[in-house]
Amino acid sequence: MKYIEESCPGRLNACPEELRQYFEDGTIDGYERVLSEGKEAVVHLVASSRSGRKVYYAAKVYKKREGRGFKNRADYFVAQNMYKRRAILALSKKTRFGRSVEEAVWQNRETGYLKELLAAGADVPRLVRAGSDSFIMEYLGGEDGHAFKLIEAKRDMTDAAGVFRSIMRNVELFLRCNIVHGDLSPYNVLYYRGRVVVIDFPQASDPRRNPNAGALLLRDIRNICAFFLPAVKTDPDAIFEDMWSRYQLNEM
Ligand SMILES: Nc1ncnc2c1ncn2[C@@H]1O[C@H](COP(=O)(O)OP(=O)(O)O)[C@@H](O)[C@H]1O
Ligand SMILES: [Mg+2]
Repeated sequence: MKYIEESCPGRLNACPEELRQYFEDGTIDGYERVLSEGKEAVVHLVASSRSGRKVYYAAKVYKKREGRGFKNRADYFVAQNMYKRRAILALSKKTRFGRSVEEAVWQNRETGYLKELLAAGADVPRLVRAGSDSFIMEYLGGEDGHAFKLIEAKRDMTDAAGVFRSIMRNVELFLRCNIVHGDLSPYNVLYYRGRVVVIDFPQASDPRRNPNAGALLLRDIRNICAFFLPAVKTDPDAIFEDMWSRYQLNEM
């Protein structure tokens, strides 16, 4: 990762180049630290003091293609059919233009889903600014940079059944928007004082285009049901059958 110094007054030496755009447009004025580094992206804790008090945000920066797993994306391009012929041809030939199309589509996916889901009333992070290679969103975590992850909240959860229902309400709402998360797990659900927020959508798929979406939905539901055992006993396959058949009959 490349670092810049001059535009990150918050923390010199530590701010990635990709965040420069947000300092320049005034979205943020402080850089704190890396929150998480995954295969596809690095999430940073950043801040704005514009309102007179410090407000934290999370900045997700996608890795360049060399640093990213390739498999997911190849599947995605097979499944989509919305591209212009030239773009499709370029993609299949892996020309430079093809790579740039692939890169741009990948990077805009997550913010596209977030916008759509926010409008539908789903519990996903509020989008603060969508930029190139990255975006800024509402931060769900403590002042110390500790994200509130569902996986860590299990012991202190007083209303596990209610939290489970909130997650399922979201899964159903996603489906009503023709979106299957595809990587739903207690690692991609944040939780704080009864509020559930689902994150990490770049691999999500649309059942109208992706024939595997049903299987992905079943896996998502099974992951969540398994996490809540033994406190909340459910039948993941029955939940899936009910949701999927209503979706296919257009009865959601
Ligand atoms: N809005 C957010 N607020 C707080 N922490 C976040 C937020 N978004 C991501 N994180 C932290 O960064 C981690 C990785 O983010 P995620 O979007 O799941 O990317 P990936 O799993 O692809 O690396 C999360 O598990 C969480 O710890
Ligand atoms: Mg994740």
